[in-house]
Amino acid sequence: MRIGVLTSGGDAPGMNAVIRAVVRRGVYAGAEMIGVARGFAGLMAAELTPLDVGSVADIVHRGGTLLLTARSPEFATPEGVARGARGAAGLDAIVLIGGDGTVRGAAALEAAGVATVTVPATIDDDVPRTDQTTGFDTAVNTVVEAADRIRDTATAHERTFVIEVMGSTRGFIAVHAALAVGAESIVVPELPMDLDDICARVQRGHARGKRHSLILVAEGAAKGPAVAEAVQARTGHETRATVLGHVQRGGPPTAYDRALAARLGAAAVTQALAGAHGVMVAARGREAAAVPYTEVLAAVKPFERDLYDLARALAI
Ligand code: F6P
Repeated sequence: MRIGVLTSGGDAPGMNAVIRAVVRRGVYAGAEMIGVARGFAGLMAAELTPLDVGSVADIVHRGGTLLLTARSPEFATPEGVARGARGAAGLDAIVLIGGDGTVRGAAALEAAGVATVTVPATIDDDVPRTDQTTGFDTAVNTVVEAADRIRDTATAHERTFVIEVMGSTRGFIAVHAALAVGAESIVVPELPMDLDDICARVQRGHARGKRHSLILVAEGAAKGPAVAEAVQARTGHETRATVLGHVQRGGPPTAYDRALAARLGAAAVTQALAGAHGVMVAARGREAAAVPYTEVLAAVKPFERDLYDLARALAI
């Protein structure tokens, strides 16, 4: 069997660990493994390179992606998908590593007759039907480390800090990081921002002697610097903003993400070798489930209101 592997969309820590698992699981089963560079853009251009066991050595701990990645607007057109299907000629199956956009692209390839299996990997954790996506744990840990550092300087100056994190449509990073650092307020795209409540919580904290306040804002809900300006204007407390940006996408994956990557990458190849396709391999506890794309694309991962409420309840 000849199996291709590509990474697509925003990179996520652990993508390299998935590539390694895919290639080695395939080679050990006797398959020929082929790397596709630059995601769907590289598939359309048939940028294919054979991968052996040694070509994925020394990457399990590295962020980014050995195969490079891209966002490809052209692939979103029927002509682009047709080009992609032509680029896949000679491959019996392709393992695609990425987020919800990658699942949509894989479904389009399936409709064009290309056998595909997807591994969920994005820092956003916004892919439904899987417990978690590869990269999310690392990104949350990066935010937590940054917030701990910011807390030191915030306390020293008795300031309020707004920390803007990634999440253009969903607030999973903001909620999990807020729970882990004890942020007083969380602003997420899923809920309207309540500036009165944010300011009241800052004032309440100061009144009971807190020397700092942390507010976590998901980028899709509001701009961190604008929130900081508004909070300072209303409360009179000195407020600064830090935008973490792409720092959240890089760095070595955590042990959790590496293990998840190994499990899901190997499971994807197991599916492909068995002739299954049109499925995403999903983490379900310690198992890996094969979920049809139709099911993934019809669902929306529910907002974790319980964790949001818990983080707020514990922070004051
Ligand atoms: O999907 C991952 C992600 O990092 C989002 O959190 C963010 O909104 C987006 O990608 C940024 O994309 P780009 O790197 O293309 O600016």
